[in-house]
Amino acid sequence: MSAQKPLIDNGNPRKYFYKNDIAIQYDEERSVEKKWSTELAIISKIVAKIDPEASILDVPLGTGRFLKIYGEKGRRILVGADISMDMLLQARRKTESQPTTNRAWMIVGDAESLPMKDHSIDYVVCIRFLNWLSGAHLDKVLTECQRVARRGLIVGVRVHRGLRPYDLIRLRAPYIKPALNHLLESARLALARRVSRFGQTRPRSKREALKDGLPPYDNEINEFKIHDDSHMRNLFAKLRLKIARKYTVDVQWDDDAKRLLPYSIFLLKIENSPI
Ligand SMILES: C[S@@+](CC[C@H](N)C(=O)[O-])C[C@H]1O[C@@H](n2cnc3c(N)ncnc32)[C@H](O)[C@@H]1O
Repeated sequence: MSAQKPLIDNGNPRKYFYKNDIAIQYDEERSVEKKWSTELAIISKIVAKIDPEASILDVPLGTGRFLKIYGEKGRRILVGADISMDMLLQARRKTESQPTTNRAWMIVGDAESLPMKDHSIDYVVCIRFLNWLSGAHLDKVLTECQRVARRGLIVGVRVHRGLRPYDLIRLRAPYIKPALNHLLESARLALARRVSRFGQTRPRSKREALKDGLPPYDNEINEFKIHDDSHMRNLFAKLRLKIARKYTVDVQWDDDAKRLLPYSIFLLKIENSPI
């Protein structure tokens, strides 16, 4: 397992590395976004509910921005894995000034084949990663997290899903107008179809609409990929992961795809395990 392994291993050369300056500036560049502090608050809330004895693996650990939260209750086993040694070095530097977390183990490892035994860690955390994976890689990483976890998973993912009228109240100002226009236009079309019942246009079935929609993910490498909500939910179900809690980080509107883009952090319970 080398640090040179592609982020998205489609057999294509990796264009984007979390190394050198990217690793050094990672926190500084991103911590100004509201999303960053919302994620910290959500992880804090979830971790506060977890038994202080429970072990945690964070993959990919990145610069270890959640380590302080995990260490707050004197948790004994903390592990972080990431394919980038440079990101782990940033995390290690952080723990030097955080005595509660400096016992965290850090491993250079691939999320697609973690060097850990089955069910060896209570909770596996995976934030800001699933949207960088396409197709089989997404399934593989989630399957691997589930294999290692004993009790649950905490994962963050942004999905595509259809808009419902009540979603409007959750959208931030710039998204409201185009989303509202879309709703009005859809309602107008639905009405027009009803009126022209004898015309050639036949209302599309839900199945047809889904078929015409965006694929669950594209196969471009090194691009942010939006997975389809139903694909994610089916994957959770296939892996026997039950949604115990869902926290919304933010909700955006994709005016090109005419779909909603909620970003949520899920606490997933492994069926038949205590949380
Ligand atoms: C956007 S960062 C997220 C880091 C952290 N989870 C966070 O929320 O700040 C993505 C991380 O994934 C790591 N990464 C990329 N491919 C990986 C792989 N196959 N296995 C493990 N880590 C990987 C990168 O090195 C980088 O640190």
